[in-house]
Amino acid sequence: MAYETILVKTKDAVGLVTINRPQALNALNSKVMTELQQALAAFQADAAVGAVVLTGSEKAFAAGADIKEMQSLDFVDMFLGDFISGWEEIAGFRKPLIAAVSGFALGGGCEVAMMCDFIIASETAKFGQPEITLGVIPGMGGTQRLTRAVGKAKAMDLILTGRMMDAAEAERAGLVARVVAPGQLIDEALAAAARIAALSQPSVLMAKESVNRAFETTLGEGLLFERRLFHSLFATMDQKEGMTAFAEKRKPDFRNR
Ligand code: CAA
Repeated sequence: MAYETILVKTKDAVGLVTINRPQALNALNSKVMTELQQALAAFQADAAVGAVVLTGSEKAFAAGADIKEMQSLDFVDMFLGDFISGWEEIAGFRKPLIAAVSGFALGGGCEVAMMCDFIIASETAKFGQPEITLGVIPGMGGTQRLTRAVGKAKAMDLILTGRMMDAAEAERAGLVARVVAPGQLIDEALAAAARIAALSQPSVLMAKESVNRAFETTLGEGLLFERRLFHSLFATMDQKEGMTAFAEKRKPDFRNR
């Protein structure tokens, strides 16, 4: 499939999507959203793909929703079109999705990175929710996901001032899983994705669902949900293979069944 605003590759069991609007620091317009939805749907449907990396350029993961696209819209345009609601589909992607962030991840860019399962950042990464400086507030989940990720104090600091934080601060705050040297970002993210893709897919998808449930429910309900999923994995051949391989001191040969 030919895309205009993203580049899509598959390497073994790993998908790589690169946002590619260099002229606008990868600002996220409707075209990027539609193409990203299409690319993720294709990876969802491809049984051979076990995990996906989402990245941007060295200079910008994405510098936010496209301000020039929104500039002249009014409330009724926004409301009737439920503007930007389609971005939430990224959070509904069922396979592991890793954000590899270099440069600016601002506004919608930071929010899209937070819709991914975890973020690996280059030392050059800069995160922020600068919407307040435009007279608006985050609209793709920033007030919710950033607050859950870094707590109220830092979320308020970033969202109310619109300042940026660097990769080291983002890692200290718990927004970022790993920080790597700039030249290593894509290799590190692809290696993490390949490692996940080599595991048993039913268990990987259930692990993702279970961690995500922690943000939606009480501890008791979440623990029960986790335990029932754990029980259900004993219906898979991969559970037998994984545990037998451990006992026999060999590598497991997972079949995703
Ligand atoms: N939307 C549209 N165009 C953007 C953009 C955005 N979010 N961010 C950058 N661009 C464009 C610039 O307009 C510029 O285009 P021209 O060359 O045609 O003028 C080009 O990308 C390069 O940008 P700069 O010249 O500004 O680059 P810089 O290195 O001097 O500054 C920056 C980089 C600090 C990231 C600056 O571009 C900036 O502040 N961008 C906007 C960041 C922002 O406010 N993001 C939030 C958007 S609102 C949002 O995301 C809402 C939501 O929650 C859904």
